[in-house]
Amino acid sequence: MFDFNYFTPTKVVFGKNTEAKVADLVKEFGGTKLLIHYGGGSVVRSGLLKRVTDTLDAAGISYVTLGGAVPNPHLGLVYEGIELCKKEGVDFLLAVGGGSAIDSAKAIGYGVANEGDVWDFYDYKRQAKGCLPVGVILTIAATGSEMSDSSVITKEDGLVKRGYSSDFGRPKFAIMNPELTMTLPDYQTACGCTDIMMHTMERYFSNGGNMEITDSLAEGLLRTVKKNALILYKDPKNYDARAEVMWAGSLAHNGLTGCGNDGGDWMTHKLEHELGGLYDVAHGAGLAAIWGSWARYVYKNCLHRFKKFALNVMEVENSGSDEEIALRGIEAVEDFYRQIEMPTNLRELGINPTEDELALMAKKCAIGVGGEKGSAKVLNEADMLAIYKA
Ligand code: NZQ
Ligand code: ZN
Repeated sequence: MFDFNYFTPTKVVFGKNTEAKVADLVKEFGGTKLLIHYGGGSVVRSGLLKRVTDTLDAAGISYVTLGGAVPNPHLGLVYEGIELCKKEGVDFLLAVGGGSAIDSAKAIGYGVANEGDVWDFYDYKRQAKGCLPVGVILTIAATGSEMSDSSVITKEDGLVKRGYSSDFGRPKFAIMNPELTMTLPDYQTACGCTDIMMHTMERYFSNGGNMEITDSLAEGLLRTVKKNALILYKDPKNYDARAEVMWAGSLAHNGLTGCGNDGGDWMTHKLEHELGGLYDVAHGAGLAAIWGSWARYVYKNCLHRFKKFALNVMEVENSGSDEEIALRGIEAVEDFYRQIEMPTNLRELGINPTEDELALMAKKCAIGVGGEKGSAKVLNEADMLAIYKA
């Protein structure tokens, strides 16, 4: 077991109609002039944005709006947002949407609060000294960005997708109304469930420092999301299942399910980020397409964790050798992905990279992690290429 810091300063306001509390929350955290940042328009079509601006108008809080954060959000819009905030004297960012709008808002916040090019933080050149406060109204359970310290941005030049993590970026509040996720396309619901589980699996498959309490929380979370993802596949309007998944999404990535371990593996995410940058695939689907190949490549190096996962999460039959049980667990995950129509390889993800493209992704991934990375197994560029090829 390792020592750890656990810091989750985000005030969570969870339940039906909670978006009506947005003005009070903005005031509580000192916002006087907002930038409302959102994605491609789902919040316009659902009427949520109008409800939010009506509430702010009634409370006398002024704001400007900026939509257009695309999935795998772009640096160009971040620059635009920074300029707008400076011009309008914005002192609080309100992200209304999913991980893309939230991450883009965090990046804008870093850009306003720090001198110089905001990309420097994503390019590992320097650390941010602050961030404009960010509040969130969440519309998709997936990334956990509503409580996490991370922001992932794609630089259009070279299609480089990079994450930056800092406690300054943790949102001040997160409004989570599970009803808001009911307008999601089924595919995005499934992508979200996959991403949520992966945030805890990345922490779970590690070779260093484990705590029984952390493992129990992680296994319970994973079983809960798996069960409710299958419920939502058949019954997307099920409020209780939406709520279980939404709260799990925050807990899966706010640090709770990694306390005491070595920081986790994270290579499935790193491998996916190259796919997301180059092919603009949905993050959760990209993770599902990579995971099986990653797992089969590394499981022998982390057998005790794969066996525990197979028995306690995927609840496979406890017979045969440890390796047989571990492999049964990996197959059970792939079966689960098929049940919720997630891909289990790149072809099913809808992409067919050439050998050169695979090599380029492995190269960029290795550069992105500083040469090698992983805990279940430390991977270098050759390993990354082998997994992409698998
Ligand atoms: O853009 P709009 O029109 O809003 O539509 C979105 C988008 O097309 C739609 N959507 C969201 N809520 C909806 C809805 N459609 C109907 N009804 C609703 N209630 O769903 C699509 C996906 O939205 P997006 O915000 O892109 O999804 P997600 O939350 O999965 O975010 C993905 C991004 O977050 C990054 C990913 O790499 C990707 O760039 N990640 C961020 C992390 C973090 N900050 O901690 C961690 C993750 O591992 C991840 O890397
Ligand atoms: Zn993720």
